[in-house]
Amino acid sequence: MKIQNLNLVNNILLAPMAGITDLPSRLIARQYGVGLAFTEMVSANGLIREGIRSVELLRTIPEDRPLGIQLFGEDPAVLAEAARMVEGWGDLLDINMGCPVKKVVRSGAGSALMQTPQRVAAIVAAVRKATAGPLTVKLRAGWDAQSVNFLEVARIAVAEGADAVILHPRTRSQAFSGQADWRLIAELKAALPVPVIGSGDVFCAADGLRMLRETACDGIMIGRGSYGNPWLIRDLLLALQERPAPPCTPRERLATAMRHLQLTVTWRGPRRALLEMRKHLCWYVRGMPGAATFRIQVNQAADIPELMTALEHFFRAVEKGESQP
Ligand SMILES: Cc1cc2nc3c(=O)[nH]c(=O)nc-3n(C[C@H](O)[C@H](O)[C@H](O)COP(=O)(O)O)c2cc1C
Repeated sequence: MKIQNLNLVNNILLAPMAGITDLPSRLIARQYGVGLAFTEMVSANGLIREGIRSVELLRTIPEDRPLGIQLFGEDPAVLAEAARMVEGWGDLLDINMGCPVKKVVRSGAGSALMQTPQRVAAIVAAVRKATAGPLTVKLRAGWDAQSVNFLEVARIAVAEGADAVILHPRTRSQAFSGQADWRLIAELKAALPVPVIGSGDVFCAADGLRMLRETACDGIMIGRGSYGNPWLIRDLLLALQERPAPPCTPRERLATAMRHLQLTVTWRGPRRALLEMRKHLCWYVRGMPGAATFRIQVNQAADIPELMTALEHFFRAVEKGESQP
């Protein structure tokens, strides 16, 4: 897939997810071959106030490429200034028009922009003027069931210079309930002259293949399906080549979870890692015998060595077939 001048090695993307897709998580996704990963959403206002080097969410390293940087905001001039600041920091810039969180929406940013198409036009035009690189917008279907306007908003964004559109086909009112309506992705693909990326409810390789088949979208974005399951990316890449995926062994799970933990210690420090890795480690063992006991240990662990020991014990027991459900 090509977005403006950015050639991607494949069309599997890691979704921007606040509180999840930090540098260590992106590096894990890259280990499994993801074609493009995004930062968590970054406040354009905050970026201007604090400066690029003090925004932890923008921390990256050369191996963390290609990288999409996602900004949120409501003021065209502020977003344009922020876009100028991040130019060259990553490989692509995305503007968040889908975040349903109250605090964000109240300021007129995120999915509130779906209610103000004229503002979308002003924002994309201003950002387009400020930067020359690949520019995308990430939309929801609309604000609510009565105002499904993704086609209108997407057309406006493209007319003002967006190079591709990402659609999570749920309304803001739906938040994450129900199912993503992939028919809307198909509609968008049929309507736009630029690449369309589908986001929503890809939890296994078969889902990804079905999204491609049913919508003809150009790229597949994986969000929650990657939780504790980064090999979904590899599985999907293999499935696209009609090749079977190797089962993920307990040994591989342990090695990946351990690397994720170590990367988080390295890049975020042990105190942060202890908190951040609780959820990830619980996701890595989800559905496996002994997961409930492990969850308690992880939440009670006082330091990183304790976490590592719990992880090793868990997987050793799984390998020996000793764990109790
Ligand atoms: C915890 C969480 C945080 C998210 N943060 C962002 C974000 O910062 N920016 C964004 O555009 N979308 C965000 N999303 C939405 C995802 O990018 C994605 O569009 C959505 O989860 C649907 O895809 P999925 O079903 O594969 O998870 C977030 C979703 C979750 C679950």
